[in-house]
Order: sequence, then structure tokens, then C-alpha cells
Amino acid sequence: MADTPQTPMERLENLRVEALKGGGEARIEAQHAKGKLTARERITLLLDPGSFEEIGMLVKHRSTNFGLDKQQFLGDGVVTGYGRVDGRPVYVFSQDFTVLGGSLAEAHAEKICRIMDLAMQNGAPVIGLNDSGGARIQEGVVSLGGYADIFYRNVQASGVIPQLSGILGPCAGGAVYSPALTDFIFMAEGSSYMFVTGPNVVKTVTHEEVTSEELGGAKAHAAKSGVTHFTAANEALVIAQMKRVLSYLPSNCEELPPALPYAAADEARPALDGLIPQNAQQPYDIRDAIEGTVDAGSFCEVQRDYAENIVCGFARLAGRSIGIVANQPAFLAGVLDIKASNKAARFVRTCDAFNVPLLVFEDVPGFLPGTDQEWNGIISNGAKLLYAFSEATVPRITVITRKAYGGAYDVMNSAHIGADLVYAWPTAEIAVMGAKGAAEIIFRKEIAASTDPAATLAAKEAEYAELFAHPYNAAARGYVSEVIAPAQTRQKLIRAFEMLQNKAAKLPKKKHGNLPL
Ligand code: HXC
Repeated sequence: MADTPQTPMERLENLRVEALKGGGEARIEAQHAKGKLTARERITLLLDPGSFEEIGMLVKHRSTNFGLDKQQFLGDGVVTGYGRVDGRPVYVFSQDFTVLGGSLAEAHAEKICRIMDLAMQNGAPVIGLNDSGGARIQEGVVSLGGYADIFYRNVQASGVIPQLSGILGPCAGGAVYSPALTDFIFMAEGSSYMFVTGPNVVKTVTHEEVTSEELGGAKAHAAKSGVTHFTAANEALVIAQMKRVLSYLPSNCEELPPALPYAAADEARPALDGLIPQNAQQPYDIRDAIEGTVDAGSFCEVQRDYAENIVCGFARLAGRSIGIVANQPAFLAGVLDIKASNKAARFVRTCDAFNVPLLVFEDVPGFLPGTDQEWNGIISNGAKLLYAFSEATVPRITVITRKAYGGAYDVMNSAHIGADLVYAWPTAEIAVMGAKGAAEIIFRKEIAASTDPAATLAAKEAEYAELFAHPYNAAARGYVSEVIAPAQTRQKLIRAFEMLQNKAAKLPKKKHGNLPL
């Protein structure tokens, strides 16, 4: 007996059912067995319940190469559409590894580009959930062209709308460059990796034996390369992190970040008065200053395991989003080096692009000396941070907790490069260098000629400290707006950022600046 013809509604329903199956049950099981979710399960976790609207569910590839015409999967390996996160609109693409390994080719790339174009036209973030074997080998150059179409859009969208990349599987070859062009990368530990060339190519070219995990796993990119900004133990936690980061950002560069309701309370924080050790050489954790100042539980650290001598992250102050950059005396004495400068410069520019005011906690002994730093370019890399602060037009406030020495004093959001307000704690030391080093240089001859060089050095060190190891010369010049008790910091900052909320600073007309890359 002949099959009963499908009604139009049945035909549509059957196509939908087929599309929802992706690469089929067996491949979905294999995906789950690796501890990975499917493209659609990830979207369900990301978006507000019931808010997803799919675009391009029935798209198919047009290739006949190498039998591809017999391997048709509706949607072509990527689920695209729009929805809401915490009630705010977002655009999303989620690669489906069960379909041809999530590989990217012509139609797949067109779907992603469509989403990116809509996001740009409508001023809302793009969230990419990447899980792909890279360029679809059978489709050849159109796959490469598809990647380049995406890269171009990533760059056009940069600084206009937030772009977040979740890495939830392999991400090899050209596939790493789209995430690298976005604002934030999030990796799942143990099931995701990123590299330009995989272990086999590495072995052939450099004879190094390395696993995928060692070469480009979440831990490697969190601690060694700094490529990823966030990592989490599983995909659900990665997606939760992505939603949290979005909550600090506006939908586009024309808007302000969303503010949470805030009820004024007693803002004094007496615990901060005891934070700085008596001995200026003794470390303390700058996170205690940050967490003691911002709204409880609001600090969200970025690149936590990379360049730990500088701490960067989002937080809220009286419900409003701020970006924090803080020297970390508990790691390498908080010195500025190449990695720390790059990390902080990137974060400052991200905050400035998206109207997130900047708060700096400063305790820095200077730039790290040595051939390694000089030959690898501490000059041009340190200059990036100087450049980033100097061009930032968002409200900017610095709190000097202890050392503000040398060039690092200038770089760390000083009044001279445009900080709106600079507060100093009474423990602040604002000088060209520490008292001992200064005494050794300027009293070298006297110390050498002395009958008791150690005692002479100690006396000269005390003399220099008395003159410079405090904030009052800088305050007398107006470089420091006010010397405040640490306990007052939160109250002062809440009022100051409120005072600055309508700040309208403009850069001189130019095509674009020339950051020392
Ligand atoms: C087509 C691909 C594919 C690809 C995987 N598949 N990668 N199909 N093009 N690039 C298919 C496999 O044939 C397989 O199909 C299915 O996806 C799952 O792949 P497996 O190998 O079984 O999975 P797994 O063992 O988990 O390994 C995943 C993988 C591996 C590590 C990603 O598949 C792999 O190495 N793929 C090739 C990666 C690569 O070299 N890509 C090109 C990078 S160059 P079946 O039918 O069996 O399920 C590049 C250039 C871009 O991207 C440049 C832009 C500037």
C-alpha cells in the first residue's frame, strides 16, 4: 500500500523533528559519553526559558564533493538564533559536533554571519558556543572563506557589541581566531582545547611530544598563554560564567551597563584599616581590599591564573558595574611586567569600550628589571597599559594603598594621565623609588667614605623615607585628591562614581590611535 501523502503541516513537523536530531542518536550518545552537551542543550542552559527563536533550522549545505551530497543534516552543523539572558536580548550560535564534527563550511558560516549581522544592526551581544573540527575538509576553500567572513565581522563588531566565546570542544586551526577576536573566552576543563596546530603537527615540526590537553587545554590557556579569560569544571558552569559576565556589560557601546537596585546602608569598612602590614616589605592580598570595598559577592575576576601580579575583574559598587585593576603585592611584590601590562591593558580597553567605569588599587614597586623583560619588550608592552589608561574616557578613580614608585606611579591611572580622582591611604608611599634604593644611589659616595657604611645607609634611608615615603608631597601638589582612612574608601568611591556618572570626555578627532602593539 502506498504511503499516505504528508499534509503540509506534517511535512513541516517531520522536518523539525529531523533537524532536532542533529547527527543522530548514536553521535549524541557519544557526545554525552565525553561529558559534553549537545548544541541545543547548551542553548537551553544559556537562554531564559522559552525565549529561544531559531533562524535557519532547515539550511543545508550545497556541496557534492567526496559524497557530501549523501550526508545532509538540516541546519548544517550549527544552531543559530536569538533569545534572552536575564531578560536582555542576545544572539547565539551553537556548533553541533554530532553533524560532521561541527565542521565549518559555506552554509554553516553563512548562518553565523547572519546572526552577527542581526546582532550588529540591533545592538545586542553575540554568544558563540564553539565545538568544531575546524574547516570542513571536503568543502575546501569555501570553508576558509567562511571563516574569514566571520573574522571580518568579529572585527567590525569589536567595541560595538559584546562578543563572548565559549570553547566546549575542539577548536583547531583557523577556528581559534574568531574566539581570539572576541571580548572574552571561556573554556570547559578537560573537554575543550584550542591550538593553531595540533600535537601531530607539533611533533613533525618541532619534535616535541605533547598531548592536546597540555598544548591547548583550559589550564594551559588559563595559566600559560592567558588566551582564555575564564575556565570552569564543566559546561554548565562555563555557561553560568558567561551569563554572569554579560550582567556587568551593556548590550552595546551606546548604552550604560545595567545597574542593580541598591539601598544605602552604613558604608564604613573598619576592617580595611588593619589591612596594610606595618612592614612595607610584607605582602598582603589585594583581593581583601577589593572585596572589602565592593558590593558583597560581586567581584568577578578575569584571567585569575595569568599574570597574578595584577588582578583584574568586574564588580559592583552600590549596584553599578565597575572594572577593577589592582596590583597584587602577594605575587612578585605586585611588580609590573610584560604579561601583567598586557592583561591589564586589554581589560582597561574592554571596560572603556563598554562604558564600565574603572577603579584602580595601586601598590606597585615599579617595572620588573632584567634582560628577559627588556629583550621581550617591556618598553612597548608596558606602554600598552600607559596608552590604555590615557585613552580611556570612562570615569576613572585610583586608590593608592601603599607603593606608587617610579614610572609605575605614572602608568597606574595617575591624575596626570586622566584619572578623575586619586585617593591615597595614609600608608601610601609616592616616590621615584623605595627609600633604601634611593639612599644607595644618591648617597653612594658618603656611604662608601663612612667608617660605618651600614649605619650611614640606615640614616640616609630614614632621611629619604621621612621626606618621601608618604602621600603628603603628592597631596600638596594636588596629584592626590584626598588622603583617606581605608575604612572610608567604600563611602568615598560610591559618592565619587555617582558624581562622575555623567562624565562626557572625548578623544581628539582621529581615524584610530596607534597602540604600541
Ligand atoms: C569534516 C570532520 C572534520 C572536518 C571532524 N570531522 N573534523 N569532517 N571536516 N574538519 C568529522 C569526522 O569525520 C567524524 O565524522 C566526526 O566529525 C567526528 O570526528 P571524530 O574524529 O570521530 O571525533 P574525535 O575523535 O572527537 O576527534 C575530533 C577532532 C578530529 C580532534 C576534531 O576529528 C580532527 O582532528 N578533525 C580534523 C581537524 C582539522 O584538521 N581541521 C582542519 C583545521 S584547519 P563521522 O561521520 O565519523 O561521525 C582549519 C583551517 C581554517 O580549520 C583556516 C581559517 C583561516
